[in-house]
Amino acid sequence: MDIKKVGVLGAGTMGAGIAQVCAESGFETVVVDIEEAILQKALAGIGKSWQKAVDKGKIDDAAKAAREKLISFSTEIASFKDCDLVIEAIAEQITIKQKVFKEMDGVCPSHTILATNTSALSITEIAAATSRADRIAGMHFFNPVTAMKLVEVVPGTATSEATKETIVTFTKSIKKEPVIAKETPGFIVNRILNSLIIEAAFAYQEGIASAEEIDKAMKLGAGLPMGPLALADLVGLDIALHVSEYFYNEFNDPKYRPPIVLKQKVRAGDLGVKTGKGFFDYSK
Ligand code: NAI
Repeated sequence: MDIKKVGVLGAGTMGAGIAQVCAESGFETVVVDIEEAILQKALAGIGKSWQKAVDKGKIDDAAKAAREKLISFSTEIASFKDCDLVIEAIAEQITIKQKVFKEMDGVCPSHTILATNTSALSITEIAAATSRADRIAGMHFFNPVTAMKLVEVVPGTATSEATKETIVTFTKSIKKEPVIAKETPGFIVNRILNSLIIEAAFAYQEGIASAEEIDKAMKLGAGLPMGPLALADLVGLDIALHVSEYFYNEFNDPKYRPPIVLKQKVRAGDLGVKTGKGFFDYSK
């Protein structure tokens, strides 16, 4: 199927980035959020980014104006009525996602594919709230969307081959690289990153080396751009703990058990970069 018009539900961190890359690739894009202020913030952020591209000579004024013409903002889900694909990026809660998918199912034409940017929820469970489970799939982007090349394409149990193919083609057309992943907790990237983070935290807990040395070793010895403990601090230790507990419960496998040091840091309020202290001190 040919995608001409794209809808993005949610104009927060991920939705604004997704809308930006769609418009940059020439797709007519409508962004919907319940909060007018968030839409204004997204509009300002995208505009600033495009102005920067003009200032750096990457695009000219005409190209910027063409992009601006392609993107529109609304607080009404009904604005998706002529979209061929809608990508949802709202709160990570199954009841909220099911509610909006049901609404979108009622508003969108029968051919419209509805995708979710969920990091962990079941695509099949979201699809069950609609009458078009064959046209529902996961499209998992990475933060920041404008810089990160990967999209994990995640079919649910009822997703059709045609839907999968359309999403793969669309992903390439917005200059991202698709990888198809089965519907399992964390898909590929977050599952493996979680293991890296908790293993680094166990090494720290066992006193194998200091946080600085663990991260230095993984950067210089494994070629990682960032050490796993610094990554955990950046993600937020509360989120890292939550993800680890989620995998532990979902897989029922002790290999995902969170290290006590992670729990202790969270209980102490040391959540990483956002609180100024985690495995490293950011207060100075
Ligand atoms: P966010 O909190 O920055 O943005 C969510 C937006 O959805 C808010 O602007 C909110 O007003 C809006 N919203 C909430 N309910 C709505 C409704 N019923 N209708 C319309 N708009 C509604 O969240 P963020 O970080 O962008 O995450 C969105 C989704 O993307 C979540 O499912 C998250 O798990 C996933 N994700 C997040 C990543 C990240 O690094 N932040 C990475 C990959 C996926």
